[in-house]
Amino acid sequence: MIDLRSDTVTKPSAGMRQAMMEADVGDDVFGEDPTVKVLQSEVAELLGKEAALFVPSGVMSNQLALRVHTSPGDEVILESGSHIVNHESGAAGALAGVQLHSIRGSRGIIDPEEINSCIRTGYYWEPNPRLVCLENTHNQGGGVVYPLDTIMETAKIVRERDLAFHLDGARLWNASAASGVSEAEYAAPFDSISVCLSKGLGATIGSVLVGSSEFIFKAHRFRKMYGGGMRQVGILAAAGLFALRNQKEDLANDHALAKKLAEGLSTVASFSIEPDQIETNIVMFDLEEEALSALEKMKSAGVLMVPFGPHTIRATTHRDVDDASIDEVLKILQELF
Ligand SMILES: Cc1ncc(COP(=O)(O)O)c(C=O)c1O
Repeated sequence: MIDLRSDTVTKPSAGMRQAMMEADVGDDVFGEDPTVKVLQSEVAELLGKEAALFVPSGVMSNQLALRVHTSPGDEVILESGSHIVNHESGAAGALAGVQLHSIRGSRGIIDPEEINSCIRTGYYWEPNPRLVCLENTHNQGGGVVYPLDTIMETAKIVRERDLAFHLDGARLWNASAASGVSEAEYAAPFDSISVCLSKGLGATIGSVLVGSSEFIFKAHRFRKMYGGGMRQVGILAAAGLFALRNQKEDLANDHALAKKLAEGLSTVASFSIEPDQIETNIVMFDLEEEALSALEKMKSAGVLMVPFGPHTIRATTHRDVDDASIDEVLKILQELF
């Protein structure tokens, strides 16, 4: 089976397993896990912020940020295809008690002026605008890299209107690998950033929430409240550290494979895709047939992808596939469709 459902399906590499086995550990609820501390300080430094918190998932990381930045009844402005809107089981309403004001962007990118014009002016009967969230790369937008100048223009508005600014950077590493802009440059205008270790980097689990010391102090309390206090979790932090130190460089290869896949898919008459739009490791394409029935056919032929709409499919490249896997996928799909 060639599994292109997500970059989360990778198995830990031999070096990662070794690092996990050798990890120095302690009880992290008592703040005594040395490997967690190293991971947190390395990620904080990499993103140019004061502090960081290791959490089990990207969802928890985003939700802690929402919880810290807002109060119940506040409004959060974000793109309508964003992960927080569509793939976090309604957590923003359930856990932070906020209202999501979603704006349709172009492949995930919102015109900063649109954000400006939807920030409410403060009548007491309106929800209180409090936070703007962006996503980089944008998953549903097709792995699009959020342009730095658009981020900076948005940041200016966010500051002028006295709001907080959060980045869902689950795949920020991919954005940096594709654009050459460092993670710290991307992170600079934000108050908080969530990055995932368990996506393209290939770690077994984990995300890191980054921000000021005061922000992380508050997030730490909510992590405990949400049941995210972990004990000898250095074993997992070691996987993240190994991924950051040794596997980040490999993302460029995932991007090249995605491009190759997209170019191949564009030769299948019943598929619609523009290979020039592929910037990172996510390949979205439309097809005439119902996505679900096409996916069943692919599965029987040994290829896994996921639906992203009634006639839209997403394929994601990752470190456990190579050139030969992509050749094989293209051969199968050309025969099937
Ligand atoms: C953009 C984005 N944010 C957040 C997440 C959530 O990460 P997790 O699955 O670790 O909760 C994902 C997961 O794929 C994602 O794509």
